[in-house]
Amino acid sequence: MKLMSNQSVFTLPEGARLAPDDFHRAARLLLQKTGIVLPPHKKEMAELRLSAQATRVGMDAIGQFLDMLEQDANSPHWADFISTFTINHTAFFRELHHFEVLAQFARTRPKPLHVWSCACSTGEEAYSIAMTLRETTREAGVSILATDIDSQAVHQAEQGIYRHDRLASVPPAYLQKYFQRGIGPREGLTRVKPVLCEMIDFQVLNLLSPSWPKTRFDAIFCRNAMIYFDKSTQARLLERFARVLKPGGLLFVGHSENFTHLTTAFRLKGKTVYVVI
Ligand SMILES: C[S@@+](CC[C@H](N)C(=O)[O-])C[C@H]1O[C@@H](n2cnc3c(N)ncnc32)[C@H](O)[C@@H]1O
Repeated sequence: MKLMSNQSVFTLPEGARLAPDDFHRAARLLLQKTGIVLPPHKKEMAELRLSAQATRVGMDAIGQFLDMLEQDANSPHWADFISTFTINHTAFFRELHHFEVLAQFARTRPKPLHVWSCACSTGEEAYSIAMTLRETTREAGVSILATDIDSQAVHQAEQGIYRHDRLASVPPAYLQKYFQRGIGPREGLTRVKPVLCEMIDFQVLNLLSPSWPKTRFDAIFCRNAMIYFDKSTQARLLERFARVLKPGGLLFVGHSENFTHLTTAFRLKGKTVYVVI
């Protein structure tokens, strides 16, 4: 197969191509492991990335790489496979109205307050929650759990280091208070201050895993992740979210996600915010 880019024309060797059966196999493995549905238009992307992964582990063919994953549920190469297909797009204070709702809600709730950002990607959502709660409650008694299936994203989140342009949506007063600009070799980068990092426990967690945190939460942010799952997975997760929320707890979802017809455990409270019944 020839691939054109504006810089080069190159050819994938025969073994590095993704046979239709292997594409279906990769899609099935991904669905079983993560809940993510792999649409047909991602075949070319899958071919390029899986072929690079196969090469990295010294295999000539994508099929061989998939065999290895299939045969070993604990293979360390699953992490790479999963990262290939996750979409980590996120931003600080994405969907700003959610943070206004959270601030109001936090004022009314008994402390300690437990919040879960369960598809936290590279951390912007969790740090936005932390800034909001610190500004609102002004007291200890807030704990934030931030998890994602993608270990590379969670690692980045834990580092708390972002390029300046990623911070455009952070209010200037918070920039001053909660971030430290890099100098010298770190010019162009900004680090989250420890006061926020200390509020958040970052962990790798697959939402499909049977073992979830034992904590009962006041609020869960599950935004722009379920959109990649099929309806039955969404419905199952909604039931599980309802069980780990405290009475009156809130579920924040993404701007294009609507679960009203999938669950009787929640009632829509406002734009993309549900309250557990
Ligand atoms: C588009 S990002 C959303 C980030 C953030 N919640 C936001 O709205 O800005 C989707 C995230 O869902 C995560 N994800 C996908 N499947 C998952 C699963 N089964 N368990 C946990 N996280 C998952 C991906 O790794 C990715 O980081």
